[in-house]
Parts: sequence; C-alpha cells; structure tokens
Amino acid sequence: MVSRVIPVDPFDLVIFGGTGDLARRKILPGLFRRFCSGQMPEEAQIIGAARSEMDDAGFRDMVREAVVEFGGGQAAEEMLEQFLERVSYEAVDAKGSGGWEALKGRLRAGRVRAFYFSVAPALFGDIAERLRSFGLADDDSRVVVEKPFGKDLESARALNATLARHFDETQIYRIDHYLGKETVQNLMAVRFGNMLFEPLWNAQYVDHIQITVAETVDVSGRGGYYDTSGAMRDMVQNHLMQLLCLIAMEPPARFEPDAVRDEKLKVIRALDPVDWHHIVRGQYAADDNQPGYRAHVGDPRSTTESFVAMKVNVSNWRWAGTPFYLRTGKALKARSSEIAVIFKDAPHSIFGPEAGKHANVLAIRLQPNEGMTLKVTIKEPGPGGMRLVDVPLDMSFAEALGPDAEEVPDAYERLIMDVIRGNQTLFMRGDEVEAAWAWTDPIIEGWQQRGDVPKPYEAGSNGPEDAAMMLHRQGRKWREIKA
Ligand code: BG6
Repeated sequence: MVSRVIPVDPFDLVIFGGTGDLARRKILPGLFRRFCSGQMPEEAQIIGAARSEMDDAGFRDMVREAVVEFGGGQAAEEMLEQFLERVSYEAVDAKGSGGWEALKGRLRAGRVRAFYFSVAPALFGDIAERLRSFGLADDDSRVVVEKPFGKDLESARALNATLARHFDETQIYRIDHYLGKETVQNLMAVRFGNMLFEPLWNAQYVDHIQITVAETVDVSGRGGYYDTSGAMRDMVQNHLMQLLCLIAMEPPARFEPDAVRDEKLKVIRALDPVDWHHIVRGQYAADDNQPGYRAHVGDPRSTTESFVAMKVNVSNWRWAGTPFYLRTGKALKARSSEIAVIFKDAPHSIFGPEAGKHANVLAIRLQPNEGMTLKVTIKEPGPGGMRLVDVPLDMSFAEALGPDAEEVPDAYERLIMDVIRGNQTLFMRGDEVEAAWAWTDPIIEGWQQRGDVPKPYEAGSNGPEDAAMMLHRQGRKWREIKA
C-alpha cells in the first residue's frame, strides 16, 4: 500500500487565536506534518493573528516549540526551518481597527484564502465583520469555526445568523474533529462499500447498538469551561451525535457534502425525545487518593455531569424498535471508543437449548487500536458433541494496511486540508447543528427543572452503577470498557 498525498492548491491560512492552546496543540503541529508529507505547496503561507504584540520571529519561536512539544513527527530540523519560513504573525484587535490593514497587506491574490476562528464564539461576529469591511475576505474565502458551537439552540441560531450576515453557508466550515478521524470515516466505507453488512443493518436483524466514548482523563485544568458544559454539551450533542448519524443514516446517493449531510440531518430529526428514565448522569467522586470532579472545577456543589448514558430511539422505518445506547464519560477505566452492533439471536437453534444463545456482534473500534471485530459462533473444537463458542474475527487496521496506516493524518490535519480543497463533507452544516441542539435542549432543561443531581462514580470505574442497571432492566449489558 502506498499512501497517496495529493498536494492542495496554494493557500493563505490566517489563524485567529494563533497563540492559543488549540493552535499550539493541534493546528500548527498538524500543518507541519502536512508540510512534511508534501501536501502543502511551496507557496502556502500561515499567518498567526492574535491580540498580543509579537513579531514574526517571536511567533516562529512559539510555533517551533509547539511543534516539538506536540508531535510534529520525526522530521529533521531542516524541515522545521523550511516550514517556519512560511509562518508569520500579525497583531490584530478583534474589536477595533488595529492591525487589519497590515494583515490584509500580507495576503496574496489568486490563492485560496481561509480564516480559522480559533477564538471564543463571542468574537465570531466582530472578526467576520472586519474580514469583510477591511476587504480581507471575498465570496470565495472560507471560514473555519470550532466547537462549542453554541450552548443551546438559541445561541447556536444566533451564531449561525452572525456568520450568515457575512458568509454564505458554502463558505462556513464547522469543525467536529470526530469527523476527521480515520476510523469514523471508515464507518461509511464499511457500511456503503460492502454488500455484506447493509442488508442486515436494520431493526429486523439488529437487537441494539452501543456507542461508547470513554476517556481516562479528568477535567482538571479545564474545569472552568467544562463545568459550564458537562458531558451532554461537550460530547453528546456533537461527537456522539455524529457517530450515531453515520451508523444510522440511509445511504446517500453520492459521497458529496450535501448528500451526506442531508441524510445525517434526517437521523437527528428522527430522534425521539429521551425519556428521563432512560438516561443516567454521573459525576466522578473524590476518594482517599485523589480529588473528585467538584474539586477539579472548584465548586463543591456542582451538579454538572462528567458521565452520561442513555437510550435513544431513532423513529424511522429502518430503526423503529432497535435502541441505540450512548455512553461517554471522563475519568473512566480506560480510553476506548467503539461502536458495537449487536445482532439478534438466530430465530431457532437447531442445536437445542443446551447450545445456549449466541449473537453476532460487529464492534468497530475508533480509538485506540483502530479496527473491527466480528464475533461469530463456531463449534468448540474437539470431541464432545456440538458445543458452540463465540470467537472473534479480529482485524486491526494498522496490521491489515501495513506501515503506511500509521502515517494517516490526524483529524485536524485532514480537516484543514479539506477546507483548502473546499470539501465540506466532513463539516457540520448549520441546520444539522441546530437540529442537534433542538434534541439536546429539552434533556438539559429537564435536569434543571427536576433539580437532578448526578450519581457519583469512582474514578477509574465503568461509571455509575445506575448505567449498568438501566441496561440490565432491558435484559442487556454494556460491553466492557477496555483499551
Ligand atoms: C473534545 C472535548 O471536543 O473532545 C474534550 O471538548 C474531549 O472534552 C475530546 O476530551 C476528546 O477527543 P479525542 O480526540 O481525544 O477523542
């Protein structure tokens, strides 16, 4: 397997918030890796823009450190210096007029122009307006915006309206970095590239689906943000919702932005409101050895959830009667994200009741150790009659695809290159984001109205016992969380 790197067109990329955490951790090291792979053309230029006064040399030092600290790959020092030649900086005042003319002077005609808003959403409007009024952006320019895209439907609508005043929807790239993950895209390849699965992909054959995004990290260091958000807004409304859409959607006619996004939107619109008996919130507690959630966010009475598990119904012809169980949390036992499709038992066992019940399970591991496992039932080898056992047909993508598989770009790298190519398939459309909030809002409001307090759970565990009970009551069991 040879990896195919197709260089993108020459571009000018301005990163607002260029000195911030996201730029240092993800955007700049990611761009460097694309540079090393040969995907970034010679003439490309990256301009950091932020409030602080700094010259090009100062910014280059910061980028150099960021690339070294946050993994620019194994590239030689020489490559890094070549990359830095394409990097510069301009101090701008997002709410005033300072710096905008100078920034404009750095942009060159006849190339793709993209503006990355790696700043607080409160500044989106100010920046968008100045991009237009100072003549930096035109009708071909692209803007990239990060999550959180609002905190509820109303604020998301307001953000969409603000951006729409200055840019057309085809120019707006809303990032959900889960869509840039290799295995997440593989969900579409597996579903729509194989004849094997699609005929079984419905309520007639699938008992239920589990989507788990478990993290071992806690919220220390970002408690201020997290406590205003919680797992529902931070993970479910966006990342888990996107996974649910890709697993549940109808085949789009083409792998094109609006064809894919139309189908995802239909899934979100088909979601039933969640019955509050079918949702469990949790918050990790302190123990003898470590502080708990409340200490991490500095609020001894916080009732924000760091874990959520729920049963979701997709009410359409394909899925009516097949529940989707979603689960995500911080400070859990292992970092593990997977989607498991649990098929129904065979309608009749020709081997008699003593052979037991056996269901096929297709588990798609998103991270770490990306791969797929299909649990199949076979005869236990050896004499002693027809004893059945379940064995995994296991495939690790890294092994199956060889050494090139390790070189796949990370989510941010891929998404930024898609912006430059003008491909919106892996970005969320405004109506999709709003529909996701419209479904999420009543759940959060319900908690507030009932004064719901999350169930405590032990750090390093599977989450609160109530989550296990919820499935148990329905005769089902969560899959083990393991790395
Ligand atoms: C972010 C959330 O969007 O995704 C974080 O704000 C979370 O809370 C992160 O930790 C998870 O991303 P990944 O790529 O590590 O699975």
